[in-house]
Amino acid sequence: MYNTVKLIHSYWAYLVLAVLIIASINAIFKSLRGKEYEAKDFRISLFTLIISHIQLLIGLLLYFVSPRLEFFSELGMGGVMKDAVNRLYLVEHPLINIIAVVFITIGYSKHKKKLTSQSKLKMIAIFYTIALVLFLSRIPWDVWPN
Ligand code: HEM
Repeated sequence: MYNTVKLIHSYWAYLVLAVLIIASINAIFKSLRGKEYEAKDFRISLFTLIISHIQLLIGLLLYFVSPRLEFFSELGMGGVMKDAVNRLYLVEHPLINIIAVVFITIGYSKHKKKLTSQSKLKMIAIFYTIALVLFLSRIPWDVWPN
């Protein structure tokens, strides 16, 4: 179970980052160029929202089936926080990624409420790019991509 969920989580991460990079660059580019907001911009933003929420759910499942969770009872919170690898997997990575998905969700719902192309694209550009930076900041780069 753990290895299967981890494999899915690991490969789904490529999809999350790919669609988020496309959505961010598209919104920044069109916003800077004063371009119109089109149906495909809506589809990219919605697809990114759905894909990132699925990764969040897979991550939560992985968190609770991962043998790493035992480090909390073995080492205690202090012990986990002292060790950079455990702190990343058990605290920083989940927390920062949850915050990043919240940014995508806020950005999506705010852009839907906006009435002009410029304000819609700006919301996606700002919130999705912040989420992208947050994801990239807590990817376990020593093991991924593998
Ligand atoms: C939503 C964006 C997320 C992305 C892009 C992402 C990406 C990744 C990547 C690339 C890995 C390394 C996989 C490997 O070793 O090959 C990983 C591992 C992990 N992720 Fe995520 N993750 C995300 C969200 C989450 C969330 C929300 C949680 C938990 C609540 C989570 C829990 C974990 C755990 C526990 C591992 C380590 C598994 C292990 O080696 O035991 N992830 N994640």
